[in-house]
Amino acid sequence: MPTIFDELLERFQAYLAGVDSDLVADEVARIGWDMPVRSLEPRAIDCLGLLDRIAELAPTNARPLARFVADHRAELRWGQTYTAADFGQGFIDNYGWLEVFGTRGHFVNDAAAGGLLILGPGIIYPDHHHIAEEIYIPLTSGTEWRMGEGNFHIRDAGEVIHHASNVSHAMRTGTEPLMALYLWRGGPLAQKSIIGSGGKG
Ligand SMILES: [Fe+2]
Repeated sequence: MPTIFDELLERFQAYLAGVDSDLVADEVARIGWDMPVRSLEPRAIDCLGLLDRIAELAPTNARPLARFVADHRAELRWGQTYTAADFGQGFIDNYGWLEVFGTRGHFVNDAAAGGLLILGPGIIYPDHHHIAEEIYIPLTSGTEWRMGEGNFHIRDAGEVIHHASNVSHAMRTGTEPLMALYLWRGGPLAQKSIIGSGGKG
């Protein structure tokens, strides 16, 4: 019998397999998908009420993953790297992530991390950067993304966004919540991002 964690990983991988991008295909091919499960206690966070709206907003190809996560939210271990001291309580109430695999997620992988980020509507995730190289794919549309010193651009669900090591980036949600799939490689995989537009931005 596959567990819900097996199915989570399978749906995560199945979504990625359908993304038409050489960058994503190369990264997917590098990931060792035969990962040991890690036993984790579930942990809830305040923004999980957004998951039903996110599952409605997700396009057809992302809906199986988004719906599954919404249906099984109480069995999963949700995390937050920041505290209210970083960006305020309003941010903390509307932010969190699920690490599917990595150095602390539901599956063990020391070379790459993958998961899902949630941001509520009307949230600014200010400039931040980290050593790991990152690929983001929004699963809901309408969030504005900025990289380096560039302007904010609205990104649609399914667009592939690549942040090289230490390049700063920021997000600004609109009237709807964001769910974005992320992949990290090449740095400390549980690093708390450095806040500010330092780095190579
Ligand atoms: Fe990032």
